[in-house]
Order: sequence, then C-alpha cells, then structure tokens
Amino acid sequence: MNAPFNPRGSTTREPFAAFLCDDSTADLIRPIAAEMGWPLERISKGGLRNAVTTLSVSASPSILFVDLSESGDPLNDIGALAEVCEPGTVVLATGHINDVRLYRDLVNSGIQDYLLKPLNPEQLREAFSHAQMLLAAPRVTEASADRPHFMSAFIGVRGGVGASTLASSVAWLLSEKQKRSTAFLDLDVHFGTGALTLDLEPGRGLTDAIENPGRIDGLFIERAMVKANEKLAVLSAEAPINQPMITDGTAFFQLQEEMKQAFECTVVDLPRAMLIQFPHLLYEVQTTIVVTELTLAATRDSIRILSWLKAHAPQSNVLVVVNRVPPAGQATEISRKDFESSIERPIDLVIPYDAKMAVQSAKLGKPLAEVAKSAKIGQAIVDLANRMVSVSDGNVEGAGQVASKSLLGKLTDFKAMLPAKKTKAS
Ligand SMILES: Nc1ncnc2c1ncn2[C@@H]1O[C@H](COP(=O)(O)OP(=O)(O)O)[C@@H](O)[C@H]1O
Ligand SMILES: [Mg+2]
Repeated sequence: MNAPFNPRGSTTREPFAAFLCDDSTADLIRPIAAEMGWPLERISKGGLRNAVTTLSVSASPSILFVDLSESGDPLNDIGALAEVCEPGTVVLATGHINDVRLYRDLVNSGIQDYLLKPLNPEQLREAFSHAQMLLAAPRVTEASADRPHFMSAFIGVRGGVGASTLASSVAWLLSEKQKRSTAFLDLDVHFGTGALTLDLEPGRGLTDAIENPGRIDGLFIERAMVKANEKLAVLSAEAPINQPMITDGTAFFQLQEEMKQAFECTVVDLPRAMLIQFPHLLYEVQTTIVVTELTLAATRDSIRILSWLKAHAPQSNVLVVVNRVPPAGQATEISRKDFESSIERPIDLVIPYDAKMAVQSAKLGKPLAEVAKSAKIGQAIVDLANRMVSVSDGNVEGAGQVASKSLLGKLTDFKAMLPAKKTKAS
C-alpha cells in the first residue's frame, strides 16, 4: 500500500471497498460512493478487523476505506492490514482519535489520509477524488533511490541573526551546486522571506495547505510550490496578518512527508516559536542548524534552544553557526571563548559580518551565497552546506548533542559573565 502509483495494475480490481464500524458512517458513504460510480455491495461492516480478514482471501480494491474506531491499537492493526493489502491500493482511514503522532505514524505506515470523525460529505468527496487523482497520475519528480532523503532545519535563536538568509542560501547551493532536487519550506507563515529573498511571489500554496491539510499530496506539492530554478522549489507564504494561524501542525508534517517523497533534500526555515508549538516538526530532521550571534541575548537563547533540542530532538545532529561576526579586533558583546563555554560545546562554523554583500543580495533578489561566491562570507556558507551534506552522508560526525545534563543550569553561570553594570542598578 506504500506505492499507490500503478494505475495499470488496477484494471482487475474493484474500484472501492469500505469496512466501517457504524451505520451512520455507512449511510454517509453510500450516496457518495454511488456518485463516484462505485458498487455499493463492497461497503461492509466490521471495521479494520474485517478488512484484514477479507483482504487476506480476496484481491485488494484500488481505494480502501477503513474505520479504525473499534481498534484498540490502530497502528499495530494497520501493520496487519499492510501484510494482506496489495501494493497500489490507496488506503484512507477514519477514527475518533485526534492525535498528530498517530496521524504521523499512520501516514508513515502507508495510509494516504486519516479523516477525523465526525465525517462530513464534503470531506469524503474531497478525499475520494484525491485518491482517484493519485491513482491516475504518477508523480513527476521521484527522489533518487540510492541516496536517502536529507532534511535539515534552520533555527535562529533570535530574530535577525540571519537564519533565513542562511537557509535560502544553503537551499540554493544544494540545488545549484550539488545538483540535488531541493524543497525549501519556509514556516514563517506570516512574515516568511523564503520567496522574497529569491525574488519570487510566494503564492497561496502554504496557506492552502494549512487550511486544508487533507489536500496535501504529491500533486498538491507539484502545483503549489514555486520554482526558483531547475532543482529548487519554494513553499513560503505572506499570510494576512489579521488572521491568526489555526492549525494543529498536521499540515506541516504532511508537507514534510510529501517533500521527502518528491525531493532529495528539504531545507526548513523554522521560526523558534514553532518549536514550542509543534515539536514533532523536528522528528524527521537529520541536521538542525542553530544560527546565533555573539550577543548576550543570543547566548542566553542558544543555551535554551540547545537544551530544548537535546530533550526533544535527540536524533538530530546539531551544528552551531555563529553569524554576523565582526572582523578580529572588533569587540562583541560576548567573546567566542565565553560563548563556547556558555553553550558547553564548540562553535561549528563562524560566518563573518558583511553588510556590502547582504545589501547586494537584497538588491539583486538573489541568494547571498550566489552574490557573494568569491567573498569570504560566500565561502563560509559553502562550507556550511558541505558540512551539512557530509554529516548527512555519514562522512563526518556532527558535533551532535550537548553532553552535559545541566545546560540550563548554565544560565546562572552565564549571567555571572554579564558586565558589572548589568547588576549594579540595585
Ligand atoms: N553575515 C551577515 N552579514 C551582514 N548581514 C547579514 C548577515 N547575515 C544576515 N544578514 C542580514 O541580516 C538581516 C536579517 O537576516 P534574516 O535572515 O532575515 O534573519 P532571521 O531569519 O534570523 O530573522 C537581513 O537583512 C540579512 O541580509
Ligand atoms: Mg527569518
């Protein structure tokens, strides 16, 4: 059921079968199945358990709808279904459990979509037409099979440290220099600069995805993403600021899933506030780039974010990148040495401050890495991209997570480093 893209194999199959737990769902589905021209006798009771029993002795339909409501362990039972369901079937599930982790696990195990009860006709129509579209159209871009997908996330410890600048530049380098098909996902939904930096219109793709996560699939990605070059596609938004973002994070997870299928690399520009709200966004991220600078506030927030990552995304390699570093001899609020001792680990990369190149990049609407390719700052960004790729390919050990268990305790030590004037006010 993981490979629903083989329409040719489906000629001898029933178009549709449903295994439901209650009459009201059956009553809801029958007229819609009739509209689609599907035989109604394949709508049965018995939920997931009956689906497993039936499919173990008969051919799988093209579209399978299963009710998980009576399942005590939906994920385990879906595993049993996967054993008997033939490849090429698009599986849609429904149930009462509203939990993004379950959703994620179900999608990972090959379910196309999970529709939360109570169901409504519109939602079903939409899910069924999408399933049909998936059966009809193979995906255009397929990730290359020999290299696993590489997902990275850029987190700025504070606004203005240059996280978005570096994210767009690295996405551009991966696509243009390393020739890897790359998705650039800008999750700053209201104020994102992913499209702006590359001189593109963001379009409505990301906003649509948040409003209608059920629509997200390979075709959606294909249509909604804006192409920056042959190998780079961007999903970014300038959502209206009179509207709060209403989402449980499902859309973001779905987008990551689809990008994993369609591209070789995904670069996520991840605003720090999103971490607190949707920690699951980092579950699939192999390398997290923590972008910071040598200021007091950024040092405090580096400590806090590194500690958060250690607790919530221990699988992700962390690279600490200090950006906007002035030339040697020019004072910074915090010295490199004090910064490193505060965060209890070495800095992985230093990127110099270069106002001239930053201005040039903004004026030309081109990524900083492209404009500054012969400058020191451009070389530093190339080093960052190379370092990320080596970590992902397993050639270089990432600095990994912080060893100490008491990083947050460091906040007190760190405060002791503050210049005396900070404490003398009393
Ligand atoms: N190394 C640098 N030298 C000079 N300016 C920089 C550098 N890195 C980023 N900038 C500039 O800093 C500003 C903020 O960058 P941005 O990437 O939007 O930060 P963030 O996403 O962390 O809030 C932008 O105007 C950008 O051009
Ligand atoms: Mg930003």
